[in-house]
Amino acid sequence: MSNLLTASIGRKLLMSISGLFLILFLFVHLTINSFLLLDGVLGFEEGQLFNAGVHFMGTNPLIKIIEPVLALGFLVHIVYSLILTFQNMKARGPQRYASGKKTKGVEWTSQNMLPLGIAIFAFLVVHIYNFYMKMKGILPWEPAEVEFPFFGLTATGEDAYTMVHETFQNLGIVIVYVIGSIALAFHLTHGFWSAFQTIGWNNNIWMPRLKVISSVVAIILGGGFTVIALAQYLFF
Ligand code: HEM
Repeated sequence: MSNLLTASIGRKLLMSISGLFLILFLFVHLTINSFLLLDGVLGFEEGQLFNAGVHFMGTNPLIKIIEPVLALGFLVHIVYSLILTFQNMKARGPQRYASGKKTKGVEWTSQNMLPLGIAIFAFLVVHIYNFYMKMKGILPWEPAEVEFPFFGLTATGEDAYTMVHETFQNLGIVIVYVIGSIALAFHLTHGFWSAFQTIGWNNNIWMPRLKVISSVVAIILGGGFTVIALAQYLFF
């Protein structure tokens, strides 16, 4: 266990597993957020579908258990990525400073995972401030109580839709979301297949496939979040 936390390959493994777990979270998150595009379209009144999704996430006991695990996942991913980056910089020593140039033939994304990660982190700070802290009662928020269909019944809950919708009427915030989502997409084009490579799934047949799947995952997640923010600003 101590080796897992301290040996270089152990740290890389933890970074990979936590990264894959965060990707899984992002797929669930994107699914709920995509309700923002369907609201008012599928016969639901504006905001009903998204409010039902948020209500489900907020009241489901399983999600309540997963939330601290998610926070731990972010922490492990960030801390170990910093440790590994500084370890690599130290290992390369003065050579790194002598050339000043990045290694040729290595993808741009793989050489810029730390700056991309920092951009995503900066986006997350804005994002958590905008939504999460209000919904958890850390920042003031006085939502209306609204009704929405919920598994064949009618449920009552907070009007999260109006908060998200109003936030996306601000062009500056939409731009932050677009930049954050694009940084996320680039981060994932390398991060996804690299995680599988670390785990040991790096044979000649699967590596090219995983690289293609990486690009698909990056386009779905990065593109999905971008489209939602832009669509809310332009069409809702
Ligand atoms: C259009 C884009 C997005 C929208 C509309 C959106 C919406 C939301 C909302 C409403 C919450 C609060 C949920 C609650 O507290 O119950 C939330 C939380 C969160 N979001 Fe997003 N989000 C977007 C993009 C992203 C992206 C790109 C990431 C990661 C890179 C992300 C990561 C998180 C995290 C970590 C939380 C806190 C954990 C949670 O509540 O589940 N979000 N988001």
